[in-house]
Amino acid sequence: MGENKKLKKVFDEIMGEKRYETVNSCTIEIPAPFCLTVFGASGDLAQRKIIPALYRLERDKLFPEDYVILGSARTEMNNNAFRDLMHDAVKNAFPDDFDVSSWEKFSQHMYYEQIDYDQIASFKRLRKKIISLEKKHETWGNRIFYLAIPPLVYEPVISNIGSAGLSQSEKGYTHIVIEKPIGRDIESARKLNTVLQSAFNEKQIYRMDHYLAKETVQNILMFRFANSIFEPLWNRRYIDHIQITVAETLGVEHRAGYYEKAGVLRDMFQNHIFQLLALTAMEPPSVFEAERVRDEKVKVFRSIRPFPMDRVDDAVAIGQYGAGMIKGEKVLRYRDEPGVASGSVTPTFAAMKVLIDNWRWNGVPFYLRSGKRLSKKKAEISVHFRPAPHLMFASALEESIGPNTLVMRIQPDEGISLQFQAKTPGARICMSPVLMDFAYQKVFSLNAYERVLLDCMQGDQMLFVRGDGVEEAWSLLSPLIEKLESKTYPKNFPNYEAGSSGPGNAAELLSKDGRSWRAM
Ligand code: BG6
Repeated sequence: MGENKKLKKVFDEIMGEKRYETVNSCTIEIPAPFCLTVFGASGDLAQRKIIPALYRLERDKLFPEDYVILGSARTEMNNNAFRDLMHDAVKNAFPDDFDVSSWEKFSQHMYYEQIDYDQIASFKRLRKKIISLEKKHETWGNRIFYLAIPPLVYEPVISNIGSAGLSQSEKGYTHIVIEKPIGRDIESARKLNTVLQSAFNEKQIYRMDHYLAKETVQNILMFRFANSIFEPLWNRRYIDHIQITVAETLGVEHRAGYYEKAGVLRDMFQNHIFQLLALTAMEPPSVFEAERVRDEKVKVFRSIRPFPMDRVDDAVAIGQYGAGMIKGEKVLRYRDEPGVASGSVTPTFAAMKVLIDNWRWNGVPFYLRSGKRLSKKKAEISVHFRPAPHLMFASALEESIGPNTLVMRIQPDEGISLQFQAKTPGARICMSPVLMDFAYQKVFSLNAYERVLLDCMQGDQMLFVRGDGVEEAWSLLSPLIEKLESKTYPKNFPNYEAGSSGPGNAAELLSKDGRSWRAM
């Protein structure tokens, strides 16, 4: 490294100077040099998501001059074999958009170290390797450990990072990133949090939920709290109910090993859907800062009324897909998917009614639903306002007038729309619902993995879930899941056709209350 470059590094390090890059009018802070160790580097998650996201950050010039990506997994490989494997993974991820010179630059920062997850000796070796790479690449002592490994080995890996003295660095930060599932019930989640917190403090722990990193999900807070016209209406006086839908057309794919044990409530509700619920229902934080936002989300979970265990059907409907048609193609029923037990009782669909016992939301139900193999891929939050108090037009109209609905479309076709009644030209009283619609333009944006990786490098925990948030969500769902999984709970699976809008019991959940789901 040239003398000038060296001096600049020392200067930046001392002054903590920040650098920014502007991409399509979006200003992004360039992180300081870092050493990122990816455990499970030869696996699916690393190859499909993490390494391609890192490559794209380098390609978009959002990385510092120096950094280290250290892959680590059980497979024996040298640096070159690892680079070759990742080259193919990145090319696969961006078949039409692969930039050879960016790849070459990126791959110069990549290394590999074989590891046995339960052997402390492996972690001591890893430590030496990290220290030598930190010197070579001058990464300022900033360390990130990303667990892209099966949940079964989370605990030994976290404990061994701690025991090998890797969880605290003498200078710089040390962060750990962990993805769901954070436990499979309240007990296992508490245990995993205890293991994490015995090696790291909460400020170092980044529990990722990729829904929080979606631009449109982040926009929920901007929309609510940066506009003064909606917040006064955001409560029981004006809102009749709220619906949250996350529908998928995909089936279980090749993930039966995991999904059979998880089911839709663990896979989608405990994390993504409860996060959407919290962002929709939370109080405005005093400052837009990670801890304050996370405090408010936890308060929402604490205010949710426990599900009635003696009448679970009043609050929940579950389902499993049968055979059917998706986009004109015949698809298998869940029980015939590879790796799924022929008599499986794992739910692939759930709908639930959630009540929040606080001043803002008393009496306003939140209806949540999510499932696989539904007619459309769609995620949205719809806010259904109360009807006008006195419908003076009602007698003159043949049809009833629909109340206002505000829809936040998370994906696809991202945007926000407000439906209201307007007079149509013609007869004296002639109305129809019209839409005021805002559609996000497809401009530059970071994908969810790029966003969370950058945030973790910058020490911003806003888009990550805090330990108490995870536990609160589990303590609500665990008893319910236990009840639904018990032998005495009747299941008549499969109970919905692939390509439909879900089982009949989900429709009943709302019709009992005199309401209905929005069309998919
Ligand atoms: C994952 C679930 O967390 O989210 C998957 O494990 C699901 O089962 C996926 O398909 C949905 O994510 P997205 O971003 O495609 O809506």
